[in-house]
Amino acid sequence: MASRYHEIYQGWKQDPLGFWKEAAEEIDWVSTGDKVFDPDQGQYGRWYPDWECNTCYNCLDRHVERGRPGQPALIYDSPITGRTASYTYAELLEEVEAMACVLADQGLVKGDRAIIYMPMIPQAVMAMLACARLGVIHSVVFGGFAANELATRIDDATPKAIIAASCGIEPGRVIAYKPLIDQAIDIARHKPDSCLVFQREELAADLKAGRDHDLGALQADAVAAGRRIAPVPVKATDPLYILYTSGTTGQPKGVVRDNGGHMVALKWSMKNLYDIQPGEVFWAASDVGWVVGHSYICYAPLLHGCTTIVFEGKPVGTPDAGTFWRVISDHNIVSLFTAPTAFRAIRKEDPKGELIQKYDLSQFRSLFLAGERADPETVNWAIDQLQVPVIDHWWQTETGWCIVGNPVGLGQLPVKPGSPTVPMPGYDVQVLDDAGHPLGANTLGNIVVQLPLPPGSLPTLWNADKRFFDAYLAEFPGYYKTADAGIIDDDGYLSIMARTDDIINVAGHRLSTGGMEEVLATHPDVAECAVIGIADKLKGQLPCGFVVLKAGVDRTHDEIEKELIKLVRDKIGPVAAFKIAITVDRLPKTRSGKILRGTMRQIADGESWKMPATIDDPAILDEITEALKTHGISV
Ligand code: COA
Ligand code: AMP
Repeated sequence: MASRYHEIYQGWKQDPLGFWKEAAEEIDWVSTGDKVFDPDQGQYGRWYPDWECNTCYNCLDRHVERGRPGQPALIYDSPITGRTASYTYAELLEEVEAMACVLADQGLVKGDRAIIYMPMIPQAVMAMLACARLGVIHSVVFGGFAANELATRIDDATPKAIIAASCGIEPGRVIAYKPLIDQAIDIARHKPDSCLVFQREELAADLKAGRDHDLGALQADAVAAGRRIAPVPVKATDPLYILYTSGTTGQPKGVVRDNGGHMVALKWSMKNLYDIQPGEVFWAASDVGWVVGHSYICYAPLLHGCTTIVFEGKPVGTPDAGTFWRVISDHNIVSLFTAPTAFRAIRKEDPKGELIQKYDLSQFRSLFLAGERADPETVNWAIDQLQVPVIDHWWQTETGWCIVGNPVGLGQLPVKPGSPTVPMPGYDVQVLDDAGHPLGANTLGNIVVQLPLPPGSLPTLWNADKRFFDAYLAEFPGYYKTADAGIIDDDGYLSIMARTDDIINVAGHRLSTGGMEEVLATHPDVAECAVIGIADKLKGQLPCGFVVLKAGVDRTHDEIEKELIKLVRDKIGPVAAFKIAITVDRLPKTRSGKILRGTMRQIADGESWKMPATIDDPAILDEITEALKTHGISV
């Protein structure tokens, strides 16, 4: 089939408001306004101003009312606990309404914030939808973050309640969440009124009288009593959620997502990008703590009337590298969305794909990859093994959905290995030099998106309009700066080459090296430090920290390096995967004192590198090379 992509993209360019007006017809609105877009509101304009809606209604009620009450909405598959569960649309609505009643009993009303700190259990999705039903703004925090990171988010979002589970489960260990939450509340200046804890069988939490409540028990009581609660109409421009993501400092950015534009964009993507029909089973193997989990575990599949999967496990080790194939086969999944790192992990364990042969994957149609660069070796392995299209697509927490991809639903375009293909309608992607001049085809530069951003993308940062402007809009007036560098070729295909800031990508997780440096600098023996991301075959990148000790410190390097690794784990969390700390006498710098992180990375990655003309003392680079070698890093 010839792709309709070019026709659709040109149609959007000629009449962007008409395009998004038509796309909005897929959503049930409480009321619609005169304008599709108001360029005078917000930082760069706002979508669907004065329109009213409810996201939970669109995800659940309308499917119950219109023909899907008995269809599974959510399937929970947890190889790590051995449990499975399935909720039809009617059952999920009942549970969500019960949870919303519990939240309302705690005094949560439209505009309040709630932090959700939960592992991959159905209650995490229920909590998101219950908040959406009430117009409460949720902020999900990934379970791999430490108390300190949770405290930062509590202070920024100032939630009225924390909705949590008693524990998370990682291979070989149960992680008690409640002590982390108690510690975070102790550290934070803002104190939430209540903490609602879902008690898991693996480990129950101690509940403090007054502030803490047993969420599961209250929810079960509300179900038993048949309590229901109507969806609260909100403005399309009201925030649905805040999702914190790494910035260039330890203070994360609170990405705001609105209700209306978000629904329109996600609904459009399910059919036109992912080629999914209502009623089919779609699986995003991510975590609700990340943007992929928000958009494609919770909201988009439900908006589209699909069945979504909540998977609590890992691609390998729970119990083996065949888990993904077992889940796809057991639940008739037509499409999987995950990060390339998951496939690198599977390939390492099962290079010949022998475990794939054990399962019937005949209904499986496509694999979508995002979150980090999809290396052609991994993509080709996946194509060979699965015999389905493997689609790379590029997006960011900020955009909430795909910027550049291959729209299978409009007819797949030819794949160029290493390129996520072409911009989606809504995104006018360009490449500029550092002075803001457009660059020709095949020339590396700053990837920007012409304003306005489309529906679904962030309108601002939570309580931080100026930070939003400074971080994204100031450098290239009229454009959104993606902070990725890349190339557009003669056919309009984009390739992402690198970040232009200090963000690194570890196992598909976005981390700030600046944030890690801030933590290392708090160690009493550290005089200065630099953290870089070095290449890793499995995780894409790994953080590597270099420290210079204060004069007079006479403890062993080994002892201090172990403390530094523990410090980052304690302050940021295990997800930082910070396991390499290297003590050096000096850091390489320019004559003006700038640390040469780029050159250090090139050395660590074994790339060819040029001696920087402005280097203060070239001998230091030899010292760095030696230090890397003694820490087992082949350079
Ligand atoms: N709660 C607590 N700890 C967590 C956690 C969570 N939700 N998720 C991860 N961690 C811990 C891990 O146990 C690990 O701890 P360790 O240092 O004691 O081993 C650490 O954080 C680092 O985790 P990770 O980088 O994920 O490594 P891993 O070895 O556990 O797994 C992969 C490696 C590739 C299998 C895994 O990263 C993966 O499945 N990635 C998929 C990518 C993904 O979901 N991306 C989201 C965007 S699409
Ligand atoms: P996150 O906000 O966590 O989704 O991370 C976004 C960043 O991950 C982007 O700015 C890119 O640097 C990187 N990224 C995401 N998807 C891709 C992709 N398909 N190819 C290359 N890099 C990607």
